[in-house]
Amino acid sequence: MKSSLALLLAPLTAVAAPTAGQAAESIDELIKAKDKLYYGTCTDQGLLTSGQSAAIIQTNFGQVTPENSMKWDQTENSRGQFNLAQADYLVDWATENNKSIRGHTLVWHPQLAGWVNNIRDPAELTTVIQDHVTELVTRYKGKIRAWDVVNEIFNEDGSLRSSVFSNVLGEDFVRIAFEAARAADPDAVLYINDYNLDQPNYGKTQGMIRNVAKWIAAGVPIDGIGSQGHLTAGLASQAGATIAALAATEGIKEVAFTEVDIVGASQQDYTAVTQACLDEPKCVGITVWGVRDSDSWRAQNNPLLFDGSFNPKPAYNAIVDLLSS
Ligand code: G3I
Repeated sequence: MKSSLALLLAPLTAVAAPTAGQAAESIDELIKAKDKLYYGTCTDQGLLTSGQSAAIIQTNFGQVTPENSMKWDQTENSRGQFNLAQADYLVDWATENNKSIRGHTLVWHPQLAGWVNNIRDPAELTTVIQDHVTELVTRYKGKIRAWDVVNEIFNEDGSLRSSVFSNVLGEDFVRIAFEAARAADPDAVLYINDYNLDQPNYGKTQGMIRNVAKWIAAGVPIDGIGSQGHLTAGLASQAGATIAALAATEGIKEVAFTEVDIVGASQQDYTAVTQACLDEPKCVGITVWGVRDSDSWRAQNNPLLFDGSFNPKPAYNAIVDLLSS
């Protein structure tokens, strides 16, 4: 039987003190206090079950994106045979830990199962896209807040990139994918996502704005634009102008920074991206592409907010200071 004093103190002692690595202040809690939805990161089962990524995400982040487990080569590497164990793990972990989820990504030309790349018949590819999208979005209906429905479909000049999707179906694959996603989960927020959307007048930025406005006007259910934000040092200086230009796209309901990592991770660059989201009413949040530098796809650039020992870097603390002001 617990003493009355122990019961009285229980709520206070129940909050786990930050372990080595976790930051005392949560940038997610701080950005939520600024009426944004999340400061998130990407992860997957391997990282959640080793090191301190899980502890840091639990304490310091409010949203997760599967880094690889929901990509086509991982989920449907053979037609009609779905392997969703790792995707399920991510979704279950996020749900249990009350983290918002961005599904990533349904239609993307790399990490694409080989059997899809070999399709040449428009009707067959249409069915294949519809079946793939329907399977994943239905499975996580009500659990995944937003989906990257199509990813990296433009060339640097804003024209449509050559892929099996565009080569066989032209731009109609965009409508096919988004309509299937909407039908599977009408409440999910549906994004088109891309990189190098970092300067307002850049060809790809203008191509995104022009085509998304056209597709929405034609009835394609696109809700949001994701700007990945894989930045070189100093490029964050244009983040505010560019996210505002993307948000101004006719028909777009929200925007987000979806995969931020920045060469050198300067305090100035990370606070510039954070401020850009704060300043844009339609910007719902920021996702950095990983927790610690050594787990990054571009580890050599030390681009993230935690170092190889899972300790917060000056850029993390600079974001805390900005969001606390
Ligand atoms: O799972 C296999 C493993 O079985 C094998 O032993 C190992 C070595 O060959 O490869 C593993 O797959 C790797 C996978 O990451 C999981 O670790 C792939 O080779 C590797 O190419 C893949 O890299 C991912 C990359 O996307 C692939 O395009 C990165 O982790 C991931 O951070 C990166 O993320 C992308 C976004 O999805 C889209 N935007 C750009 C961003 C950076 O490229």
